[in-house]
Amino acid sequence: MDQQFDNDIADPKTYGDLDKQHALFTQMRANDPVHWTAPEGYRPFWTITKHADIMEVERQPDKFLAYPRSKLFPIEYELKMKEAAGGKPHFGRAISQMDMPEHKVYRQIAQEWFQPSPIHGLSPKIIELAKRSVRDLVAKGGACDFYKEIASPYPLRVIMLILGIKDDPESERKIMDATARYFGGSDPEVGQGEGIIEATFQYFDFFEPLNKEKRDNPTDDVASLIANAKINGEPIDPAIAQMYFVALAGAGHDTTGSTSAGGVLAMIQNPQEWDKLKANPDLTHAAVEEMIRWVSPVKHFFRTAKDDYELRGKKIKAGDNLLIAFPSANRDEDVFEDPWSFRIDRKPNRHLGFGFGPHICLGMALARLELQIFFKELMPLVKRFELNGDPRWTWTNFVGGLKTLPVKYELE
Ligand code: HEM
Repeated sequence: MDQQFDNDIADPKTYGDLDKQHALFTQMRANDPVHWTAPEGYRPFWTITKHADIMEVERQPDKFLAYPRSKLFPIEYELKMKEAAGGKPHFGRAISQMDMPEHKVYRQIAQEWFQPSPIHGLSPKIIELAKRSVRDLVAKGGACDFYKEIASPYPLRVIMLILGIKDDPESERKIMDATARYFGGSDPEVGQGEGIIEATFQYFDFFEPLNKEKRDNPTDDVASLIANAKINGEPIDPAIAQMYFVALAGAGHDTTGSTSAGGVLAMIQNPQEWDKLKANPDLTHAAVEEMIRWVSPVKHFFRTAKDDYELRGKKIKAGDNLLIAFPSANRDEDVFEDPWSFRIDRKPNRHLGFGFGPHICLGMALARLELQIFFKELMPLVKRFELNGDPRWTWTNFVGGLKTLPVKYELE
């Protein structure tokens, strides 16, 4: 593995080419699964590619910290962020960047709300939103960009619902735009070359008034819960409340849209799986898990070693950073039988698409529910999808998936 190999791991363009992305990870799993990676223009790190090693790291949050390095940025951009944040590594801290005991305190604010049973209470409203998306598909008359026009708007509307944001096209456009810039800033077709700094300010413009509104007039939504939370008896710092909103809006939208579009593409490429799901709606739950494994829309998060640690024979030093490669874990030959085949009834399916340990995805019950509802609404109405152009993936080394999926379809 040479310099170019390391450069490719960091390069957002690599993730716009799925074959290349998976070839790099497969090579690392086989030859150097805990790989010291030193891409030009980035601070070096260990890339952790095996399922078992990722679990070993994630289950020890006291030894592997989420702060301060959480995502992969070029050094130049890290310096720009520090400047924009007045000397701190980040503008405000989302829960993904917190460690114990702080992480537990802030995660608990919304933890209860995101449990399966309260989330399932939202089903009727989510079904309405899914029906609306499927109606949009029907109205397009047989051809559309499935990612842009269907898969992406649907989870955005779900997020707006849970944050208690008025369902209007203007708010939809603003959040959609900020999210595209937040995750797709490296892709000139998605984020117009702008990155996380601009996107965070754009989100703040939207969430600052929302935080105030929910404090003054709380309603029955997760935004009101966060805006009115008390930390050690004191009102939550508005900057942290807003970062919470940013995390929910960003994490909850792009991930889910990428999964449903990637799932449809996988079924176009494996028509027997489409037929199986149409004939057996009871498989929807398992199918959604397989889509998450297959797509792995979250490419990484970082951890920092608190002390020296030995992992698979490699001597990790205190202060070293570790990049946790979720898509690699989800193709690990030691865990998944025939990992390269997309099987909607895969069982067991111990994927790490939602992560593991105390930072495991806060929104996973919601993500599962909204994806299951979506496919239950979609499958009976569409006879078959076909490609109507080339699918293309976002250039992002952090979160994302398809940026365009042109399809033709025949309705039942
Ligand atoms: C298919 C959809 C989704 C996938 C694949 C996904 C994946 C992930 C992953 C891999 C992590 C990092 C876990 C770790 O560090 O071990 C994460 C964290 C997180 N996700 Fe998701 N996510 C999805 C949907 C959502 C939704 C719908 C929401 C909320 C509305 C959400 C909110 C969060 C939050 C707040 C965190 C940070 C949790 C923490 O650090 O404690 N995600 N997600």
